[in-house]
Amino acid sequence: MKNTDVRETIAQREYVNKSRELVLKKEDESGKRLTASVVTFGCQMNARDSEKLAGILVSSGFELLEDTEDADFVLYNTCTVRDNANQKLYGHLGEALARKKKNPDMMVAVCGCLPQEPTALEKIKKSYSFVDLIFGTHNLYAFPEYLSRLLSGERHICEIFDHTDNIVEDLPVIRKYPFKSGVNIMFGCNNFCTYCIVPYVRGRERSRESADIIEEIKNLQKTGVKEVMLLGQNVNSYGNGIDGEISFPELLKRVCDIDGIERVRFMTSHPKDLSDDLIAVIKNEPKICRHLHLPLQSGSSRILKEMNRHYTKEQFIDLALKIRNEIEDIAITTDIMVGFPSETESDIEDTLDVIRDVEFDNAFTFIYSKRMGTPAAKREDQVSEENVKMYFDKVLSLVQESAKKRALIWQGKTFDALVEEVNQSTEGFVTGRLSNNMLVHFKGDESLIGNIVPVKLDECRGFYYIGSRV
Ligand code: SAH
Ligand code: SF4
Ligand code: F3S
Repeated sequence: MKNTDVRETIAQREYVNKSRELVLKKEDESGKRLTASVVTFGCQMNARDSEKLAGILVSSGFELLEDTEDADFVLYNTCTVRDNANQKLYGHLGEALARKKKNPDMMVAVCGCLPQEPTALEKIKKSYSFVDLIFGTHNLYAFPEYLSRLLSGERHICEIFDHTDNIVEDLPVIRKYPFKSGVNIMFGCNNFCTYCIVPYVRGRERSRESADIIEEIKNLQKTGVKEVMLLGQNVNSYGNGIDGEISFPELLKRVCDIDGIERVRFMTSHPKDLSDDLIAVIKNEPKICRHLHLPLQSGSSRILKEMNRHYTKEQFIDLALKIRNEIEDIAITTDIMVGFPSETESDIEDTLDVIRDVEFDNAFTFIYSKRMGTPAAKREDQVSEENVKMYFDKVLSLVQESAKKRALIWQGKTFDALVEEVNQSTEGFVTGRLSNNMLVHFKGDESLIGNIVPVKLDECRGFYYIGSRV
């Protein structure tokens, strides 16, 4: 079944044209440029969505500002995976209100994952009623339409869809980095881990057609992109539900075949269905970066079952060690959550065992956050704050130890680094990313940005290196 909606793309482009006229008219009247700023919270998917939102704003005639301070239009692209993401937004909205009091013409919009959750949506409508536009994840493509309505003077626009079957391709995009880009290969999630709100706010899993993905990457390459990151909540289930579509490992191979694309990354790969085919493709394709993000969540088989993760402690360890055996220089990073309902000291011991056995190169550690509407939130056996803190400290110190140990292995070796930016803290230095996702700072200037250069990792400073060009 083809679910790409071409008519919608054409309609939305018309709205961009309409907005451009309205922006020009306003600029004529006021004698100054209209400015906009996009503030992004959350994961790589949201970062990619923000590039699309920024593209629409620029195509509509706005000047894009880094800072929200002086912007006439501020758009918050939100996350709600943990409660602290919600709190962050509320803090920002407080500041926006203060600015709006000084500049009543200023427009404020909230979009993304947070308004897809009914209680959070109510809170914004009630406590932050000055917000002019609210839309969700399923109708991001309709932003041009909402923008033109706002520019025509309409206020309090709130449109949230509870699902979508369509994928709208080819809207304008402004990339943060000219030399690298995220590329969505699928949207949504069908896994329903019992703690997680993502399937509720992002909807069911939908894969893009491989031909559209390849076309997009070829076009990105023509505009200077060397590195792509294929994005999906579980890339291993890419293609499910589309008759005759290729598998994820096959998609990776085809991306690697594109001339001029030098590095390929992907995120996230669920341990439950990571295939031997995928391991073989990573091993055999030098363009695929030596980094695998493999979220563990918990090392306790009992907790994993209650999380609905579909693997056990032993299966995870076997998988990670098999990958390390096959691909010697690969970095394995992970996500670990502590404080899932009913978690005990002995469950944490299991998590610590996995960290010791696998020796993660890095790990994001999170405190479990109760998410409205998820099965885990209804449980009565929530863990006390005191225990969560104790568990968290234990896990964090062991992952830090493991990350330091792994990073030291590469000290003194030479690797290619893609130079991403001028170093902010040390003058005369630039920062590059290694294939294994570690950062190296070394002497160089702006002219190196976007180039892949060999760098010797002279000194390991824990989570990054100081290096020199060779
Ligand atoms: N699809 C990815 C994860 C996306 S969310 C996967 O399955 O691996 C990113 C991370 O946020 C998760 O890996 C998990 O560790 C964390 N997370 C998700 N829901 C959470 C919650 N309710 N509380 C705390 N952390 C959570
Ligand atoms: Fe959330 Fe699980 Fe889906 Fe990841 S796989 S987004 S943790 S439900
Ligand atoms: Fe957050 Fe939505 Fe991503 S909830 S983690 S921004 S999918």
